[in-house]
Formats: sequence, C-alpha cells, structure tokens
Amino acid sequence: MATVVLGICGSIAAYKAADVASRLTKTGHQVHCVCTPNALRFVSPLTLMTLSRHPVVSSFEDESTDWVPTHIALAREADVLAVVPASAHSMACFAHGLAPNVLTSLYLANRAPVLIFPAMNSFMWDHPATQQNVQTLLKRGDRIIGPAEDGELACGSCGKGRLVDVDVIVSHILQVL
Ligand SMILES: Cc1cc2nc3c(=O)[nH]c(=O)nc-3n(C[C@H](O)[C@H](O)[C@H](O)COP(=O)(O)O)c2cc1C
Repeated sequence: MATVVLGICGSIAAYKAADVASRLTKTGHQVHCVCTPNALRFVSPLTLMTLSRHPVVSSFEDESTDWVPTHIALAREADVLAVVPASAHSMACFAHGLAPNVLTSLYLANRAPVLIFPAMNSFMWDHPATQQNVQTLLKRGDRIIGPAEDGELACGSCGKGRLVDVDVIVSHILQVL
C-alpha cells in the first residue's frame, strides 16, 4: 500500500478533496491530509480526518508529537504529493520556494512525484504571474492537471479555472502509484 500526501489549499473547491481522500482510502492507500490554514476556512479537519483515517496536519503547532517534524516525516513517507485544489497563492509559494506553512514546507522537503490540480478564477489563472509560476513548476517536473477548460465558476463567471473532476484526480493519483 502506498502513501498519498493530499495537500489542500484555500479554494472553494476544497470540499472536493474530502471525496478524493475517501476514494483513495477505500482503495487501501494511506492518505494524509495536509491543509493550509486557509483551507480550513472551506473544509473541516474532522471530515478529512474521518474519511482519511489519519489526523489532519494544518499547523506547525500540530507537529509537537514527535522529534521529527511532521512535515519532514510525511515528505519522507510520501509516494506521491497531490495538491487538491491548488490555489494561486500556494502555487506561487511552490514556484518560489516559500515555506510559510506546513504544506509549502512539505513541498520543499518532498522528493516524490508532485501532482498539482489548480482551481481558481479564470483571470487569476490567466494572469502572467500565475502562468510564469506554472511554467516554473512544469520545468521542475511537477505535473499540473487542469484546470478544466470551461464551465461555470463559483465566483459566478464562466471560463477556465474549475477543478478537474474527482474521477480524473483519483485516476491520475492511482496511475502514479
Ligand atoms: C470564497 C473564496 C473562494 C476562494 N477561492 C479560491 C480559489 O478557488 N482559488 C484560489 O487560488 N484562491 C481562492 N481564494 C483566495 C485564497 O483563499 C487566498 O488566496 C488564500 O491566501 C490562499 O491561501 P493558501 O494558498 O495558503 O491556501 C478564495 C477566497 C475566498 C474568500
């Protein structure tokens, strides 16, 4: 059985990560949810913990249970790091090596394949800053799946930016494993 580290960012699509965690857990894999502090505004750690059957890590305060910091221990253990959904802010942190929270720190410590599933407003996605970050991450070997080409976004506008379907996310993660 493999270990999936599921990174979750502050996007309206964060609730879909609960379904991803549930489906991967049911396939028999170990799923560890690592949330940014902003992700917790959108999805409950209780939901994620129950569905993944592991405690959720979202703060450096959660890391006081062992002498090895949890973000380092999980990075060592990971067979894949999947970020669902990936926000513009966290992608910028990844691209620039900024590590203000557990997820962004784990990204730097991780050497397993990285799958990034972005979700954001289409103007945020199209912005040259985001597109430069996308190019940096792709050149580094991270895989970026999505956002979906078209559709209605939570902000009320239409266009590219929606998280790809949960089926697509799960099948990409399982392919890597
Ligand atoms: C209701 C709401 C929905 C949001 N949805 C998104 C989103 O889908 N994608 C995104 O990049 N940012 C979104 N944001 C903004 C992020 O939450 C914000 O940039 C935050 O700093 C991201 O932090 P994180 O990357 O550390 O999780 C949203 C904000 C609000 C208030």
